[in-house]
Amino acid sequence: MIKKVLLTSLMATSLASSLSATEDMEKWLRPSEVPQPKDNKITPKRVELGKLLYFDTRLSSTGKVSCATCHHPKRGWTDLEAVSKAVGINGERGPRNSPTVMNSAYQKHQFWDGRARTLEQQALGPIEADVEMNMPLEVLIPKLNKIQGYKKLFAKAYPQSKGEITEKYLAKAIASFERTAVSGNTPFDKYIKGDKKAISAEAKEGFKIFKGKANCVSCHEGFNFSDGSFHNLGMTDGQLAGKDVGRYAVKRRAAWYGVFKTPTLRDVAISHPYMHDGSVKSLEEASRICNEGKFPHVKNFSTQVQNKDLTDDDYTKMVSFLKTLTTENKTKIPTNFPQ
Ligand code: HEC
Ligand code: HEC
Repeated sequence: MIKKVLLTSLMATSLASSLSATEDMEKWLRPSEVPQPKDNKITPKRVELGKLLYFDTRLSSTGKVSCATCHHPKRGWTDLEAVSKAVGINGERGPRNSPTVMNSAYQKHQFWDGRARTLEQQALGPIEADVEMNMPLEVLIPKLNKIQGYKKLFAKAYPQSKGEITEKYLAKAIASFERTAVSGNTPFDKYIKGDKKAISAEAKEGFKIFKGKANCVSCHEGFNFSDGSFHNLGMTDGQLAGKDVGRYAVKRRAAWYGVFKTPTLRDVAISHPYMHDGSVKSLEEASRICNEGKFPHVKNFSTQVQNKDLTDDDYTKMVSFLKTLTTENKTKIPTNFPQ
């Protein structure tokens, strides 16, 4: 009898621990199904069309800029510029660092201030923005409709369009391609799946510190390393007049003053520089700011930022871990565009 009880309780414990191990594993692995709207399911034809549009510089006023200029797959889907280079007539720069497009399909909010919800809503913005592609849609849509090759591809990808290219179908096609920009098979993912040798001992310790002592997961949570929420790390000294007020520009609530979206940390080793303003060059410095804040006394500073007195060694280990999050990119860059 005693034996039986002991056995059942032993089984219960081992079952419980293996369950929590699976739960933990699932949390860090990207769900294989990519979220997609009912009226724009991912199909190979839509992806192929969206990819051509994504790389096509004819979508900009100067004919020199495409989405890939600022979100290139080989550069962690970013541009490596502090703040993105403009095509505006004066060559002015936009105010913000270009975020990675990777895993944006899984995000509830797009942009640093979360002003767009879906990729379809997002896609047309940069085409028209004067600091991005500077191409009014009233000019672009007729221009695209003169390209017979595109008309055919739209007719195949979206039969209801009958080959008539409209803003709606343009946005849908680009969003379809973006939904294929997803993370996977990084050394970290391999490690989570059970390959204990996939990452170094230093990186393993870094991951432990990231989840434990440093509590980075209070904001950088789950497979995409983001809570999808917004925080104020005191990136500016509080004098925000004429500066970037973050989410407050979208929703005028005091709590949103100077807050920015928690970015994914996927591909972070190759998507420098960092933060919404691109002011930070290294992973270590970005991590330090997240732990201590840059100007920690500003109004509305996040209460989730709590200095954990991390050592230099803790940072070295965490940076080593962050470097295991880079997805090998196999995107073939198109060279032939529809005529
Ligand atoms: C000149 C550089 C530039 C070009 C060209 C550009 N973007 Fe962006 N993109 C940015 C910047 C900068 C942001 C952040 C802006 C903000 O948060 O206000 C951004 C944000 C995004 C986001 C949101 C990502 C996130 O995590 O919040 C997506 C998705 C995106 N761009 C896709 C595209 C697509 C699709 C195109 C082409 C139609 C494009 N971009 C063209 C610079 C650019
Ligand atoms: C309070 C929430 C919060 C915590 C806790 C936090 N971060 Fe962040 N992290 C953010 C936000 C928000 C940003 C972007 C801030 C901005 O641009 O204004 C960011 C940016 C970063 C970046 C730069 C990414 C990029 O693409 O620009 C890195 C790297 C980073 N965090 C690592 C860490 C590490 C390591 C820890 C633990 C020591 C940590 N973070 C803790 C919210 C947090």
